[in-house]
Amino acid sequence: MKITKICCIGAGYVGGPTMAVIAQKCPHIQVTVVDLNEQRIKDWNDPNTENIPIYEPGLSEIVAEARDRNLFFSTDVEKAIDDAQVIFISVNTPTKTYGKGKGMAADLKYIELCARQIAKVAKQNKIVVEKSTLPVRTAEAIKSILDNTGNGVQFQILSNPEFLAEGTAVTDLLSPDRILIGGDTTPEGEDAINALVEVYANWVDKDKILTTNVWSSELSKLTANAFLAQRISSINAMSELCEKTGADVSEVAKAIGMDSRIGSKFLKASVGFGGSCFQKDILNLVYIAKSYGLNEVADYWEQVIIMNDHQKRRFSNKIVQTLYNTVADKKITFLGWAFKKDTNDTRESAAIYVADDLINEQAKIAVYDPKVSRNKMLSDLDYLQTRSSEENSNALDIFNDPYKACEGAHAIAILTEWDEFVTYDWQKIYDSMHKPAFLFDGRNILNVKEIESIGFIYKRIGS
Ligand code: NAD
Ligand code: UGA
Repeated sequence: MKITKICCIGAGYVGGPTMAVIAQKCPHIQVTVVDLNEQRIKDWNDPNTENIPIYEPGLSEIVAEARDRNLFFSTDVEKAIDDAQVIFISVNTPTKTYGKGKGMAADLKYIELCARQIAKVAKQNKIVVEKSTLPVRTAEAIKSILDNTGNGVQFQILSNPEFLAEGTAVTDLLSPDRILIGGDTTPEGEDAINALVEVYANWVDKDKILTTNVWSSELSKLTANAFLAQRISSINAMSELCEKTGADVSEVAKAIGMDSRIGSKFLKASVGFGGSCFQKDILNLVYIAKSYGLNEVADYWEQVIIMNDHQKRRFSNKIVQTLYNTVADKKITFLGWAFKKDTNDTRESAAIYVADDLINEQAKIAVYDPKVSRNKMLSDLDYLQTRSSEENSNALDIFNDPYKACEGAHAIAILTEWDEFVTYDWQKIYDSMHKPAFLFDGRNILNVKEIESIGFIYKRIGS
């Protein structure tokens, strides 16, 4: 089968960029991205592509090239499903907040809704692709819904997890390390796999397109995220030991990273990993292991999350302790709120938890982030339900100018590794602050000697 029409349900951080790149690289394929969220679709269709709802370097240019040529954003979910040969499901799969598996299992209600809608609308055979990250064996549930509630048409279910990282989504999509496609080992399953392989082969070397059975593909995605997060928790665990022993975690990371068996990536000690996926996917893995009675496996992976929570708390505790055990009424300026640089995404950002801890200690928090809006920051804090929106709004002062944000501060905390922070006039910032002036570098991005020579009391992670 030659694919000429694709639909993607979910116009979020994965659906939007992934489909934009498919559309750019495959002008012969019509790609329609649909979402229930009208505002999101409106923003994707904003005539000025600088205003699309997701900030990713290089993305607005791709959208400008492909939109209204062969890339479309719409709220008409049914029409898009009906038209397409291949339907990607890229909806959110958050941690369950209710019922069985609350706080651990993936909430599959959005996935199930998609499956039911596809079953209702489809009048011709379709390939349904799991793009969202899902628990292993979810394809079975999707297939059961499609086969038992549909109009008698044939569905092939493929698993094609996405490995892009935010902030580098476009380069990750253009030059992926690999594309993973899992499907049934039947002739129909193999046809479906091949059809999807041909889509990616428009720009990805076939050697990098890996095909497996569905369960391996589903589980590989959770495994990849668990391994990546585990490296961060491992180096963060060492950062605490470094602080006690006089070792420097950056030196340790460099020394171990030069061992080609270990490798140098993902060894940057930090205030803790954030983002919408690492925690959710590991919790999901832990839940799955427990559900099979594999308690040791579950405990092993859960420790990655325990360490990450500890690292965030340790950072806020260190601020309080260093500021003579009280931050009440002190101004603490956060540089950065996003969970990493080059994204406007704040989901599970360490900044939210550090702010929450410090507000509990009655600190006044000033924040500057180049891409995150005031409303987003406040809604992140409100989501924790620690205090009322009014109290959050009184405790958080949000600035568009970093120098103004730092004026009169007792301490600065760097929560995101935005490149621009390195280029600041730190002498000017120091001069405008309360003395002694403290700087807590949660991302280890500044030059120790330079910063200390200005007069800052400078605390890095793991040294
Ligand atoms: P997101 O919340 O940004 O986007 C999901 C979108 O789906 C939302 O806009 C929502 O309105 C829409 N949606 C939900 N149900 C719908 C329905 N029935 N019909 C139409 N639209 C619907 O989420 P995301 O960050 O894009 O993540 C999506 C999936 O991809 C998750 O499973 C996630 O684990 C996985 N993933 C995310 C990333 C990432 O970097 N964010 C990377 C790899 C994989
Ligand atoms: C991560 C994975 O890297 C992607 O492969 C995956 O597709 C995605 O999750 C997903 O499934 O959602 P992402 O969360 O966007 O991507 O960003 P990362 O670069 O992995 O960073 C995650 C967090 O870890 C950030 O807070 C980052 O600052 C932190 N981090 C990363 C460190 O603290 N140290 C490091 O060495 C690397």
